[in-house]
Amino acid sequence: MANTSELAKHNAALAALPYIRPGMTVGLGTGSTANIFVDLLAARERREHLGLKCIATSENSEKQAARAGLRLVSFADAPMIDVVVDGADIVSADFCLLKGLGGALLREKCVAYRSKKFIVLVGEEKLRRKLEGIVPIEVLPFAAPAVLREISKLSKRAKLRTAAAGRPFITDNGNYIIDAPMRVSNPAKLEAELKYLPGVLETGIFTRADIVLVGNKTGCRTLKNKKQARPLLLTCSCLAKQLDCF
Ligand code: 5RP
Repeated sequence: MANTSELAKHNAALAALPYIRPGMTVGLGTGSTANIFVDLLAARERREHLGLKCIATSENSEKQAARAGLRLVSFADAPMIDVVVDGADIVSADFCLLKGLGGALLREKCVAYRSKKFIVLVGEEKLRRKLEGIVPIEVLPFAAPAVLREISKLSKRAKLRTAAAGRPFITDNGNYIIDAPMRVSNPAKLEAELKYLPGVLETGIFTRADIVLVGNKTGCRTLKNKKQARPLLLTCSCLAKQLDCF
């Protein structure tokens, strides 16, 4: 019998399925909740032949999707993504997220910010009023000691993520991650400021989800962001004019 947390993940993943329509390009997240969604999506594709194209956010999700028989594409074939379904570590009341405890934040953001709809799957325990928790920051190994010194001024407990035998954790992109516990009062500002540090490649601060599906052991409730859904990449108006993505 599955435990409460597994049931909650399953119910959130199940609730994401109706958002997927024939012919869509779907971004596949990374992590234990996203994995459940990938398996459910693959089963639906086998039953209904929706002709989906999928873009994965990590080597793990790519392998899993390929094994399950989903058709994988790259950005070469998918300039804009219809919908992304991913997990998160923390979700604030204003639909900002902390992501990246699974180490896939860079590719996750590349995909999420180019999607028309970003759907996030979580359990109740990840909801907060304000964004607070570990902010994972992907950094170039060459610059990691310098970036760690700089980030330590903002977060005293910031440290390099380690894997087995105390060696640095290496992302799918060959980089390191600094984990910085922080209270994030202005997510967009902190995201921009951290990325201004040379050597910082991406942060786990995501400034908008469109739909948050909050699973529990008996079902799922839906939180809808009232702000108009449009790819985050295009929130910069001069870019929006130049990138004719729709
Ligand atoms: C990976 C992530 C994951 O989505 C996040 O860590 C949540 O994972 P899980 O569903 O296993 O709790 O951001 O980089």
